[in-house]
Amino acid sequence: MLNDNSVSFDKDLITRYAQAGPRYTSYPTALQFHDEFNDGDYTETARESNEDLVPAPLSLYFHLPFCRRVCFYCACSKIITNNQARSTRYLDSLHKEIVMQGKLFDRDRCVDQLHWGGGTPTYIGNEQMSRLMQVIQKNFTLRDDDRGDYSIEIDPREIGPGTIKLLREIGFNRISIGVQDFNPAVQKAINRIQGYDETAKAVEDARTQGFHSINIDMIYGLPKQTLETSRQTLKQLVDLNPDRIAVYNYAHLPHIFKTQRQINENELPDPETKLNILQLVIDYLTQNGYVYIGMDHFAKADDELAMAQKTGSLHRNFQGYSTHANCDLIGMGVTAISCINGCYAQNARDINEYESLLEQGKLPVTRGMMLDHDDELRRDVITKLICHFNIDFSFYEDNYGIKFHRYFHDELSRLALMEKDSLLSIDNEGIHVTRKGRLLIRNICMVFDKYLPISNTNKSYSKVI
Ligand SMILES: C[S@@+](CC[C@H](N)C(=O)[O-])C[C@H]1O[C@@H](n2cnc3c(N)ncnc32)[C@H](O)[C@@H]1O
Ligand code: SF4
Repeated sequence: MLNDNSVSFDKDLITRYAQAGPRYTSYPTALQFHDEFNDGDYTETARESNEDLVPAPLSLYFHLPFCRRVCFYCACSKIITNNQARSTRYLDSLHKEIVMQGKLFDRDRCVDQLHWGGGTPTYIGNEQMSRLMQVIQKNFTLRDDDRGDYSIEIDPREIGPGTIKLLREIGFNRISIGVQDFNPAVQKAINRIQGYDETAKAVEDARTQGFHSINIDMIYGLPKQTLETSRQTLKQLVDLNPDRIAVYNYAHLPHIFKTQRQINENELPDPETKLNILQLVIDYLTQNGYVYIGMDHFAKADDELAMAQKTGSLHRNFQGYSTHANCDLIGMGVTAISCINGCYAQNARDINEYESLLEQGKLPVTRGMMLDHDDELRRDVITKLICHFNIDFSFYEDNYGIKFHRYFHDELSRLALMEKDSLLSIDNEGIHVTRKGRLLIRNICMVFDKYLPISNTNKSYSKVI
């Protein structure tokens, strides 16, 4: 069968592009947030957003940071503990924050999107999950027609017999299941032993309970992974028939995430093998009914994400790709980030500080930034590139009052080098990313990131390849 997705990379090209860079779940990235932006600025922006001509619907994110055991590769904001009292104390603070945040937004603003992320949200147990959803419902206007996107991340090792049923009953209709790899040697190397049957059971239960969409998280670039192990893992993955699949590029930053120091670097696949695995992933999944959305994400051809990409309405936020472009995002919980109108606001990153601020009756926002016109323009360019692999010059000239060629003169000359490497083409209408360029979309976006030369020096970003 002819495979029109395959691309080839030579060693020289890999070496030139295998640099570190952001994943652009936001632009500017969190590295630009500063503490001159405070809870007062956030409150004002939130209140102002109610006055918009047509106030945006809301997207709520809740961070539940606890896990019982550590996975060595983990780069999430998590707290490893077996002490249930710790999470009970945290939930008291989270409830306080929900009440305070709820007061800032008009009740006629419906919650179109809701997400519980972690850590491991189900760590807190069925009773506390039900209670948390009740508190949310009391303070925000949740949809009662099951048509919002209400999703939760689960770890199949951390659910009881009735958990998935309960999640559906309290209002979730999308579920994301953490797996990473099915190979026993890889699982051992990352300290995450998870039986295939236990994952299959979680998928089956989610289907029986009528979840609209099931996502599975995988990672490529983990220790002991080879083309052969990846081929077997992909086969097992497709057999489970999820609606969406995320295959994340392993972000290895042991100077930031201490547990990653337990990963043996000699066992990590080299950049060439990683690219070959990525190519295999794309080939395998596209030949088995999935569409490559871009930047680590795949969806069934009839899934909303694939449709949104087709119609140009796909968006990207802190949770990855989304069909809700127009929502104001309110992040609650330790480290959570909000994105409202022209501002980003982040909660305290230390759990004790988070709890102490709420104890004092203060919103726990400790840093953030207001976006200027240039930030908003560049954010729009980067989002379009990541979601649609295409830039239409006239869109920016009409909507941002700029002459694209003049405004982005330097960026276009840097892109000309990428054009030579067949990553993209530039014509009178715009920029068009090629199949090869899709795999290096982070590099292409980085050209438009005005903060990068400054922030890249502090090694906060993971390798693109
Ligand atoms: C909060 S976890 C998912 C829920 C649950 N804690 C679990 O692990 O099943 C979010 C996802 O982030 C991804 N992830 C974590 N650390 C990563 C890293 N260093 N590089 C790339 N992806 C990572 C994993 O795919 C993981 O499933
Ligand atoms: S990957 Fe999930 S379960 Fe593992 S440590 Fe990170 S948040 Fe916890």
